[in-house]
Amino acid sequence: MIANGGAKRGFAPETQDESPCHTGGSELSEIPPCTLVLFGATGDLTSRKIIPALFSMHTQGLLPPDFQVVAFARRPKTDTSFREDLQHSIRQFASRLNADGEEWTKFAASVYYVQSDLDDAEGYQRLSQRLLELEKGQAQRRLFYLATPPDYFSTIIQHLGTAGLNQAEGPDGWARIIIEKPFGTDLESARQLNNLLRPVFKEDQIYRIDHYLGKETVQNILVLRFANQIFEPLWNQKYIDNIQITVAETLGMEGRGAFFEHAGITRDIVQNHALQVLTLIAMEPPCSLNADAIRDEKVKVLRSIRPIEGHEAVAASTVRGQYGPGVTAEGEAVSGYREEGNVDPHSSTETFAAFRFHLDNWRWSGVPFYVQAGKRLAKRTTSVRIQFKAVPEVLFARQACSGVQPNVLTLRIQPDEGASLEIGSKTPGPQLQVHPVEMNFEYGSSFNAPIRDAYERLILDAIRGDASLFARDDEVEAAWSIITPILEAWRDLSCPLFPNYQAGSWGPEAANTLLREGTVWTRP
Ligand code: BG6
Repeated sequence: MIANGGAKRGFAPETQDESPCHTGGSELSEIPPCTLVLFGATGDLTSRKIIPALFSMHTQGLLPPDFQVVAFARRPKTDTSFREDLQHSIRQFASRLNADGEEWTKFAASVYYVQSDLDDAEGYQRLSQRLLELEKGQAQRRLFYLATPPDYFSTIIQHLGTAGLNQAEGPDGWARIIIEKPFGTDLESARQLNNLLRPVFKEDQIYRIDHYLGKETVQNILVLRFANQIFEPLWNQKYIDNIQITVAETLGMEGRGAFFEHAGITRDIVQNHALQVLTLIAMEPPCSLNADAIRDEKVKVLRSIRPIEGHEAVAASTVRGQYGPGVTAEGEAVSGYREEGNVDPHSSTETFAAFRFHLDNWRWSGVPFYVQAGKRLAKRTTSVRIQFKAVPEVLFARQACSGVQPNVLTLRIQPDEGASLEIGSKTPGPQLQVHPVEMNFEYGSSFNAPIRDAYERLILDAIRGDASLFARDDEVEAAWSIITPILEAWRDLSCPLFPNYQAGSWGPEAANTLLREGTVWTRP
């Protein structure tokens, strides 16, 4: 018996002589058959993300041969009726994929349904039996995907352990578990979840998903930083004035009011997606591209973030907001957060949050990292804005030349994926005038390939046994250590007068108070 996540892990070769561009885990062409066991199979995430990702991977030939999906869920369904439901989801949520052709028929034939309560030990025995039948004596390679609400995680994990499904028979077998966010709601609950997992699955079997890490443009942060000589010498407090990370969404609750009421934007976006981006921007070069080498460096960044603790520090370094009614950029009148379904009409949940973080380490001492995230903002954009220091005020300033601006490197994570660098240039004409111009790189025009959904990459990596793009236990806890004291202080501090920004705007004015002079928030 072995209970491992697969022998070969990491984004990079384990020996010096392998190709440095090896993408970790097994090579695509070598991925052996495996089965994905899906919990939460009738939920929203399955319909909108997981099944479209799997079917898209199937059409691209990215799934291993004899790949199978076994859904484990409570509702009474048969294999056939479940397949029909999935076909309907593809039509509804992934219309770019053809759910009516031969490929769908082939894919659907490898999907099975096991009906059981999530808390029924006998159901897990049936699951085990079904897996053995489907594997037909081949090695047991099983990926358990927990896409349920987090309340069920503990029950499922314990039953998997009791049924022995946390281990795989045979030398080539493996058992891995993917856990969806939210991974805890604060430091204590994240620790509890890690403690619950540890006796059942080893760390190298656990894949904590943060779908931001599956985005091409997020992965490109490391490539941009470490595959180009020109950035690294400037990537520090000597040359960078401040860094801004923005995760702005135009959507409101979209039926998720009940979840969001308890989460708020800080738990939903900042603790995970925004801090993941921050760590990739701020980390030291890892000693290899191996999963643990990358994650070691990310944890070091999180640990170097100066704690924002106590009422005074929290009041000075954070701003919360909640949207009221307003008009979107498309001219649609929309209601305020408190009028959304399943939301308390007096809710104090934040739909916008902004933070000023400082990293107490050699590279970033004195450089503020501003982070803002919000729902129902003016424009959908996720970006990183790196503002360099101004040039010394000689030469052009002496000529009363007003246009000299600091250089700004913007990484556009989505939409309009790419990067741009603002540089000062001479305005044509007899006078010496400087004007900022943009050097621009766009994924769309530079590569003749569509940007795939993040879930495709992440599921493939979990199948291959590459955990580089998944969060490790200490990483998740370190992120919660930063966020939890802020959430606690907000609970005690008097809440701002909500709503304090209009839907369709850029958030509360108060967010400007966090910025140092000469800095403005990203408003693309
Ligand atoms: C999810 C959040 O993790 O990320 C959602 O729960 C949010 O509230 C979503 O809308 C954003 O993801 P993306 O890929 O659309 O930026």
